Amino acid sequence: MAGYQLEFRRNDHPMDNREHEELALLGHVPAAHIVDLTDLGIVVESTARDNLERVATQVPPPSMSQSFLAPVDGVKNKRCQEWTMDVVYISGAGSGIGRASALQFVADGARKLAIVDIVSGGLQQSTALIKERSSHVDLLSIVADLSKEEEVHRVFAEIQQRFGRLDVAVNCAGITGTYLPIEQLSSADLDKVLNVNLRSLWLCEKAQIEQFMRQEERPVITGLGTKTRGSIVNIASMLGTITMPHASPYVMSKHGVVGLTKTDALDYANRGIRVNAICPGFIQTNLLDSTGWEALAPLCAATPMNRLGTAEEVAFVVTFLASDRASFMTGSVVLADGGYTVK
Ligand SMILES: NC(=O)c1ccc[n+]([C@@H]2O[C@H](COP(=O)([O-])OP(=O)(O)OC[C@H]3O[C@@H](n4cnc5c(N)ncnc54)[C@H](O)[C@@H]3O)[C@@H](O)[C@H]2O)c1
Repeated sequence: MAGYQLEFRRNDHPMDNREHEELALLGHVPAAHIVDLTDLGIVVESTARDNLERVATQVPPPSMSQSFLAPVDGVKNKRCQEWTMDVVYISGAGSGIGRASALQFVADGARKLAIVDIVSGGLQQSTALIKERSSHVDLLSIVADLSKEEEVHRVFAEIQQRFGRLDVAVNCAGITGTYLPIEQLSSADLDKVLNVNLRSLWLCEKAQIEQFMRQEERPVITGLGTKTRGSIVNIASMLGTITMPHASPYVMSKHGVVGLTKTDALDYANRGIRVNAICPGFIQTNLLDSTGWEALAPLCAATPMNRLGTAEEVAFVVTFLASDRASFMTGSVVLADGGYTVK
């Protein structure tokens, strides 16, 4: 049916009060207009936007949020992305931005996830949170040190064995290393940061692109007629575009990630593979806590929005860039920094 869609999305645990909410909601919505009823929520469709606006005002869903989706014109365009068939890989998923991204993909409908982290405890917590959000996720959770080449090979072999393909890769694992002027740093300090933040990301991206190239292209789900093989989102940093005192290894690693992103974007632009980078500013995660900066207040004060960002705010950008809605974006370096770099 051509028309408009309104989505009621569950904000919390999908199964909480489900029957109660559904009964309340269904009482106000003509059954013929319900096109999708899942544990994530309810999608209602109508040819007239007025009808949906009436539904939106009449129904106050207790624990659901509602949003109008893009007009549908006969093409499959219900959500930002129908992730249900896609295999999504996320590194550094045991904490912070990686975990928030995994949860956002699940909230958006992803059903096949491979999450990787060096810390098993963090990964277990992420696994529990994902399962809480959806009981339908086929989840592969791998503890691995991605700075080791053999571990990278093991991870992508396991993904191939379990899912047979890969559609989205989010390279998020990272460390800050030691913050000191160069004369007080050793080459070991440099190697440690470059190994995790840059060399490891290069190895992972190589494995991801090799996997994409073994796969057939598929049409983008926006109905715009182009094709895709897969999409990579690298988590760089605003320190991939500017610098900061005493942070030479980290700054070098993140400038390197930006360079790698642009190079692979160029090399694979006409082969159905998109590679983009996100450059977060100061985001409230464990990584920031471990920098040893005495207090976070100066970081807030230095940010025009006068606050730290949240991992969820970065995750929204991740899921957009990974999706077919970003089909004309490759080699982009997207800042999510509360205005820090425009000063
Ligand atoms: N938090 C910020 O302010 C900020 C700002 C800009 C960029 N970033 C980048 O965002 C990414 C995610 O960081 P975060 O803020 O979520 O921090 P975080 O510490 O919460 O998460 C990083 C995750 O990477 C994992 N990891 C580290 N080394 C690994 C390895 N060798 N193999 C596998 N996993 C490994 C950690 O165990 C951790 O779970 C990093 O690349 C970081 O550089 C963070």
